[in-house]
Amino acid sequence: MKNSSQPVVALIQGLLGLSFIVFILTLFVAALVISLWRFAPPAQVINEKIQAAVPKTDFRLIKEEGLWKAPDWNEVAEEPNAEQIQYGRELIAHTSEYLGPEGKVLQISNGMNCQNCHLEAGTVPLGNNYGAVAATYPKVRARSGLSEDIPKRINDCFERSLNGRGLDTGSKELKAMVAYMIWLGKDVPKGSNLPGVGIYEVPLLDRAADPILGKTVYDRQCTSCHGAEGQGLKASSGTSYTYPPLWGPDSYNNGAGLYRLSRFAGYVKANMPLGATYERPLLSDGESWDLAAYVNSMERPSKELSGDWPDISKKPMDHPFGPYADTFSEQQHKYGPFQPILAAKK
Ligand code: HEC
Ligand code: HEC
Repeated sequence: MKNSSQPVVALIQGLLGLSFIVFILTLFVAALVISLWRFAPPAQVINEKIQAAVPKTDFRLIKEEGLWKAPDWNEVAEEPNAEQIQYGRELIAHTSEYLGPEGKVLQISNGMNCQNCHLEAGTVPLGNNYGAVAATYPKVRARSGLSEDIPKRINDCFERSLNGRGLDTGSKELKAMVAYMIWLGKDVPKGSNLPGVGIYEVPLLDRAADPILGKTVYDRQCTSCHGAEGQGLKASSGTSYTYPPLWGPDSYNNGAGLYRLSRFAGYVKANMPLGATYERPLLSDGESWDLAAYVNSMERPSKELSGDWPDISKKPMDHPFGPYADTFSEQQHKYGPFQPILAAKK
């Protein structure tokens, strides 16, 4: 009797044990699924959360169709001047290595790379790209009051954004950068300015941008990469930056485009903190303007600018240095509110 029932009992015990294990495993998997969903919701939920956190009006441009896209880089090989174009891109991506303080070609700039501000060598929609350059230069620019060609415009960024010296117009380097920009803009009809080129225009606030509010955003969202003192972080090679500086002696000077609050706000709105895009911005409009106010109220190199804007009535609303054709102060021209300035222009 005992002998014959033993296998049955063992079988039942075995089954019970097995189903217990299965039961525990099921519980475990269910708990895992629930906690994963709770702590890492699917991408769509993340997206909705971000969109909910940013005021609706902030998405104006971002849904626009037909944004400029860079041509396919692999097609460069077919160009007769492929090597020149490739060298141009290399100089824009790794400017410091060639032309920085210890540059192997020349030492004429501050250690930043062009692509620190013109993302991915100037190819990112609303990442301050070069999409419109070939189609719109030469053109008369009010800052100089002169007709400027592409080489002149490139040297402007060397002298201001890279706080350095321009390249010789006959140099191999300048010609290569121009060739690259012409190739990038080859599909843009002459004279046209497609949506998605350059910098995003952040809607104006009805108040002045506030450096004190900007500092709180900066401390929360920017210090991890750009440093508490805006000093950035040098790459281990020492020749360029992993995270470029935002102010201090190695940053852009007071004549640079980013020193204007609208340019800075538009750049960071669509691109910062790193990983943000025009489709998925992480800063509200107000935060973008306040960050611009904070960063641009810190010390930075200064340039002799008395030759700029020979016709003062052409100064943009956010050019922070007088004299002006209107009666608004330098303070208001720097931080806003800008609507009254624009209204007075009309
Ligand atoms: C510190 C940031 C910064 C750096 C670094 C920088 N630029 Fe710029 N650049 C700007 C800003 C801002 C503008 C103005 C964009 C605007 O007004 O829409 C600009 C404009 C330009 C334009 C004109 C674009 C257009 O569509 O009119 C060219 C060309 C250019 N930069 C080339 C360069 C080159 C080449 C380098 C490297 C030698 C460089 N930039 C480095 C910030 C920078
Ligand atoms: C995760 C790191 C990271 C964070 C966080 C970050 N940035 Fe950046 N930022 C970068 C990198 C990297 C570049 C240069 C991009 C390149 O070279 O491809 C850059 C470039 C810039 C530039 C243009 C270059 C310059 O030095 O002037 C500005 C302006 C800027 N960031 C502002 C900000 C602001 C404001 C914040 C906070 C809202 C922020 N960034 C947060 C990594 C970061």
